[in-house]
Amino acid sequence: MQIAYIQTFPLFGEKEMNFREVLNLTCTLKTDLLILPELFATGYTFASKEETTEMGEFPGEETTHFLQLLSGKTGGIVVAGFVEKEGDTIYNSAMIVADSEIIGIYRKLHLFNKEKLWFSPGNKPPKVYRVRGVNIGIMICFDWIFPEVTRSLALQGAQIIAHPSNLVMPHCQAAMVTRCIENRVFSITANRIGTEKRGEDEFIFTGMSQITSTRGEILSSAPGDKTYVGIARIDPFQALNKKINPYNDLLADRRIQGNLLID
Ligand code: ACM
Repeated sequence: MQIAYIQTFPLFGEKEMNFREVLNLTCTLKTDLLILPELFATGYTFASKEETTEMGEFPGEETTHFLQLLSGKTGGIVVAGFVEKEGDTIYNSAMIVADSEIIGIYRKLHLFNKEKLWFSPGNKPPKVYRVRGVNIGIMICFDWIFPEVTRSLALQGAQIIAHPSNLVMPHCQAAMVTRCIENRVFSITANRIGTEKRGEDEFIFTGMSQITSTRGEILSSAPGDKTYVGIARIDPFQALNKKINPYNDLLADRRIQGNLLID
């Protein structure tokens, strides 16, 4: 199976230009799975709830159509972040799309910094989607620092963790190596680059998007300051075997019985 990410430099509020950047980066790409960054169409540094409301979309609107188009063009499953509206509620979400179908939507559980002012926290547990014979789980950016998100997805059978991101802290790439080793899953962290200054806030996004194997090997690593397309070939079935030797199984050996550890 071929998996891929694109590392982009979105311009705040410029959806059409951001869509065009994605099309330029993927113009010759054919792949089974493609991950885009968090909030790839809008940019990140919102300054009011009015802005998220204005740029937010219900499933089935502009960004959905774009991702359906991208899925058709690349031939693959696509996972990408977007500002999701549900009634008056706004979530920082990621959509998984295959061809013309929305397979599912994940709402970021752990909001970072002032995201807490502009978005509502996710109100549904993370879920694994079985698409074209592979189990894909989604988490978004800052979820990386809460190991129970990846664990929850692994316990549900995830083989690949799709991880749209807009990273500003330097630790995630190393942490994802640990997440993959402790859960025997593949991960694809699709980050963005560039600086975004709006109002009193300025964020420098760290790039270095990464594909990590079930053994913690880095299969693709992007530069910190350039747009990039990263690709790796994997065997997703490696993620189904949790045995590290004849005596140890990463999931079955957890000491959760008898209140020794929290489940
Ligand atoms: C982040 O969660 N976008 C840092």
